[in-house]
Amino acid sequence: MHHFEYRDDTLYCEDIAVPRIARAVGTPFYLYSHATLERHFKAFDSGFEGFPHLTCFAVKACSNISILRLFGHLGGGADIVSGGELFRCLKAGIDPARIIYSGVGKTRAEMREALLARILMFNVESAQELDRLQEVAAELGTRAPVAFRVNPDVDPKTHAYISTGLAKNKFGIPVDEALAEYERARDMDNIEILGVSCHIGSQLTQIDPFIEALRKLKRFVARLEERGIAIRYLDLGGGVGITYDDEQPPHPHDYAAAVRSELGDMDVTLILEPGRVITGNAGILVTEVQYTKVNAGGEEEKRFVIVDAAMNDLTRPSLYGAYHEIQPVVRRNDGGEEVVDIVGPICETGDFMARDRCLPRVAQGDLLAIMSSGAYGFSMASNYNSRPRAAEVMVCGDRYHVIRRREEYDDLIVGEINVECS
Ligand code: LLP
Repeated sequence: MHHFEYRDDTLYCEDIAVPRIARAVGTPFYLYSHATLERHFKAFDSGFEGFPHLTCFAVKACSNISILRLFGHLGGGADIVSGGELFRCLKAGIDPARIIYSGVGKTRAEMREALLARILMFNVESAQELDRLQEVAAELGTRAPVAFRVNPDVDPKTHAYISTGLAKNKFGIPVDEALAEYERARDMDNIEILGVSCHIGSQLTQIDPFIEALRKLKRFVARLEERGIAIRYLDLGGGVGITYDDEQPPHPHDYAAAVRSELGDMDVTLILEPGRVITGNAGILVTEVQYTKVNAGGEEEKRFVIVDAAMNDLTRPSLYGAYHEIQPVVRRNDGGEEVVDIVGPICETGDFMARDRCLPRVAQGDLLAIMSSGAYGFSMASNYNSRPRAAEVMVCGDRYHVIRRREEYDDLIVGEINVECS
């Protein structure tokens, strides 16, 4: 459930009419509902109440510091994958003791920063990474807390680009090799083994793959124990899907119940890394129709709605062929419907928000809401075609806050040096 709903044919975010914000901040802009963010975080986290756990929000899904701050206040931690995400979390006041660091390509500098910040643990993804972490920790005269991310070879049954837990994916260490890595790590002076982790993919709509992965992890932990290696943290990753169209993902409580029942009385602290399930449906992208046009030259007539948001603002439709529902911000109940492509101004045929979509007839100046844009929306935005990135706005009840101002032209060339080679 989210807090974007129509009142008298106008879309509201909580208690504010969306057109009012559009008039004040211009378009396009991302709009988040504070109440929805809070509700989704609590809905996820409360499923694990009574079991020792830590909900580490996957920062890559939505990384605005005001939003990270909110999750920190709600008792959450963070799952980071770069020094930049660590920087954001610290700015947002997230307790470093609740930060875990995933990702296959950590640099020495990033390791150093995370060690100095005293994060909870590194999810190590290769033998070479372990060696490097040992070296960096030794240089700093400290011990690096680690879990290994094992690759359980489970099919998450999701889009190929966001499936991560198959043996053919680049992520993690195969279960059989991981055992030897734990034994190596045990003998390293500057490594402290804390846990085991996995993440099998994103936008999962079934519970079974999670449970299959968890079973493999449990068996693995038992094998470690036989070798005298104790595990305190079990990190199950993220991946619970949301409804974009007609998907029926598990309710977070059902997911939690299945995980808890599989864990039984296992003596570990569970770590979860949800991203999309918390912010996905808590944000929309608001855009204005610039032009409508009909190209009648080809075999079939094509109708286009050209909006001021583009693939640089929301890349999911172009990159994954992802579906996002698109709704008029103000419903006009008289115009009928038509099948259109909703496209942006970027010079690529792949720049679309939706194709062959049946939409109430729209006109120049109308506002459209691209729904379910709160995860992997702004965080994947770029400046392609030298387009300043959109503003981000958060509504709290009957007030709104600009939590990231719209970029200006000067922002486009920050860091560029006007060199003339002669
Ligand atoms: N943990 C790790 C190690 C991850 O790699 C990810 C996502 C998550 C947690 C959070 O997964 P979530 O709960 O959000 O499914 N850009 C793609 C999604 C890429 C996901 C990458 N990893 C999209 O727009 O669909």
